[in-house]
Amino acid sequence: MATGEPDQPVAGSHPTNGAAEPVLTRPIGLLAELTHRCPLGCPYCSNPLALDPRDRELDSQTWARVFGEAVALGVLQVHLSGGEPGARRDLVEITAAAHSSGLYTNLITSAVGITASTLVHRANIDRVAAMVELAIGLDASRVEIAHVQYYGWALLNRDALMPNAEQVARAVRAVEELRRLHHGKIVIDAVLPDYYARFPKPCVGGWGRRSLNVTPSGKVLPCHAAEIIPDLEFWRVQDHSLAEIWANSPAFQAFRGTAWMQEPCRSCARREIDHGGCRCQAFMLTGNAAAADPVCHLSPRHADVVALAARQHDVPYSFRTNPRKSDSGAAVR
Ligand code: SF4
Ligand code: FES
Repeated sequence: MATGEPDQPVAGSHPTNGAAEPVLTRPIGLLAELTHRCPLGCPYCSNPLALDPRDRELDSQTWARVFGEAVALGVLQVHLSGGEPGARRDLVEITAAAHSSGLYTNLITSAVGITASTLVHRANIDRVAAMVELAIGLDASRVEIAHVQYYGWALLNRDALMPNAEQVARAVRAVEELRRLHHGKIVIDAVLPDYYARFPKPCVGGWGRRSLNVTPSGKVLPCHAAEIIPDLEFWRVQDHSLAEIWANSPAFQAFRGTAWMQEPCRSCARREIDHGGCRCQAFMLTGNAAAADPVCHLSPRHADVVALAARQHDVPYSFRTNPRKSDSGAAVR
């Protein structure tokens, strides 16, 4: 697997007093979570444990308004996602509204055979070659071998999903070999699982810099997992325009720019490259959303990630549930 590892960081090379006021950039991507309903129950689902119920889902007129506001804000691409967006009876209407607003529209569905994207974890990582063969058989020109990311239901199932170091090394070698073998026939995208990387991913392109996420019930988040960070205040599309939310909502301002950073990120040469990694992961693994993502080998908590990656337990999965019909907001099992 390609690691996607950027250049070596130079910790301590950046002046500690160089944190500038956050610049308000224009978002380019919108993740529209149309529903949390889904016919599947994957244990690695990144949806929150508390799923939005059906009777709180935004209607198609509101989505159409949100798409128009997104275009005015500079957004170029919308990902229609969920849950399973196909669970919405008005999906055609919503998709047409996204398209006619001028957005490049991408439908993310669980339907088998439509996309050549595979999610790997401990139980299937040794079958990477078969996944690539399947994609070639489906005439795909590109296949993404994506590792489970430990948010939502996947975090709950982390010990059951985490591959071991030997499996990861084997998969890296397998992907390199498959790339050589199928060069010119298919492009194979693959990255190391987060917990095995030396540097964190620049999650969502930096908090409040490139993208926004509207939940089924209308809350606007800087990323899909942001609700796990306590005390963030999210504004809703029912109460504010997308432009107001992008510029002024407390949640978007919380980690925009670099002034919020702590060491080692504050003085790291990579702070404008990976933006300190993932805020949600930093919170989940250290209890501090402003800490360096501990996936980074420069983090003082990196040893915790190494220990978690070494922890595998073959316990039964907790399968993802569906939201209630009631407005309780709680998931049912
Ligand atoms: Fe530097 Fe922080 Fe990124 Fe690590 S997470 S490379 S310390 S900016
Ligand atoms: Fe929230 Fe990475 S998932 S910042």
